[in-house]
Amino acid sequence: MTKISRRQALGVVGGSLMAGAVAGGTLVAGGMTGQAHAAAPGTAARFQFEEQPFSWQPHILDPEECAVAAYDGYWHKGFGCGYGVFYGIVGMMAEKYGAPYNQFPFSMLEVGKSGISGWATICGALLGGASAYALFWGRKERDPMVTELYRWYEQTAFPIFNPGTAAKGFAGDLPTSIAHSPLCHVSVSKWCYETGIAEKSKERSERCARITADVAKKAVEIMNAKQTGAFVVEHKTPESVEYCGSCHGAGKESPIVKGKMDCAPCHSGSEHTQDKYNNHP
Ligand code: HEC
Ligand code: HEC
Repeated sequence: MTKISRRQALGVVGGSLMAGAVAGGTLVAGGMTGQAHAAAPGTAARFQFEEQPFSWQPHILDPEECAVAAYDGYWHKGFGCGYGVFYGIVGMMAEKYGAPYNQFPFSMLEVGKSGISGWATICGALLGGASAYALFWGRKERDPMVTELYRWYEQTAFPIFNPGTAAKGFAGDLPTSIAHSPLCHVSVSKWCYETGIAEKSKERSERCARITADVAKKAVEIMNAKQTGAFVVEHKTPESVEYCGSCHGAGKESPIVKGKMDCAPCHSGSEHTQDKYNNHP
């Protein structure tokens, strides 16, 4: 409940209409419903701005066209992968359909660059895709779409997209690797280890630009399928998640684990995840 003065309340929405909602100088939050646009700064009732959650309407898009836009978006002002994928989806709707898509402050998706402000947590391309979905679908509808996108990402050898002569970072073929993880850190570091290419290099930037295109394309294919009623989760849950989850999960003997990521890259005991403080180059 937000307290505002009687004077403020009357000043904003008109005395006669709102007088009933005002009691002893306190305006009940529910009394402000529907007044979001009329409210002056500092007078808004809490959470009143989410009256129509996930209400934007999606459109069918051309995945190939979106992939190219996403690739270019990655390089645009150095905004990176999160911006690239998000613009490759919502920006394309803005270019084709105008409002409300063109009202979105697209540059905020720059935060996804390098796994969110350089932290290499979630791959920013995946953040961009999931964020675009969230404009149109709430979690019940969206979560399976995110799962399909992320599982596909875990299991696919990247990059696939090749811009040919339109390449902006590095032209030509690039080697591929499978991340088995949605994390920027694992995805990038593993690719660099397997290819011998430095993280700070044109080739690595180009790889991520191409993955931005790959993720936008896949994200749009999922959205298109969702809109035509053809969407299904096709990519299988990894064995580790099934096996480890048989004990580590809600209502199981060890109900302490959160998440859906493939457990193997981090808990397999491989040489890559063992102690690096001793006997290490
Ligand atoms: C047969 C049941 C079972 C399976 C299968 C299982 N766990 Fe566990 N695990 C346990 C129990 C019970 C504990 C004790 C933790 C607790 O108190 O909740 C534990 C503890 C852990 C711990 C913390 C202690 C430690 O040994 O490091 C980790 C990490 C862990 N499990 C990871 C995994 C992973 C990864 C898998 C799949 C490869 C897995 N577990 C599969 C039952 C299981
Ligand atoms: C990106 C790496 C990563 C992935 C993927 C991952 N874990 Fe972990 N997990 C960790 C780290 C790091 C910890 C904290 C370990 C510590 O306590 O030092 C942890 C903690 C745990 C713990 C608590 C016990 C402990 O040692 O702290 C369990 C149980 C566990 N993980 C199981 C799983 C299971 C099951 C999966 C797959 C569904 C999974 N993890 C996926 C990295 C990962």
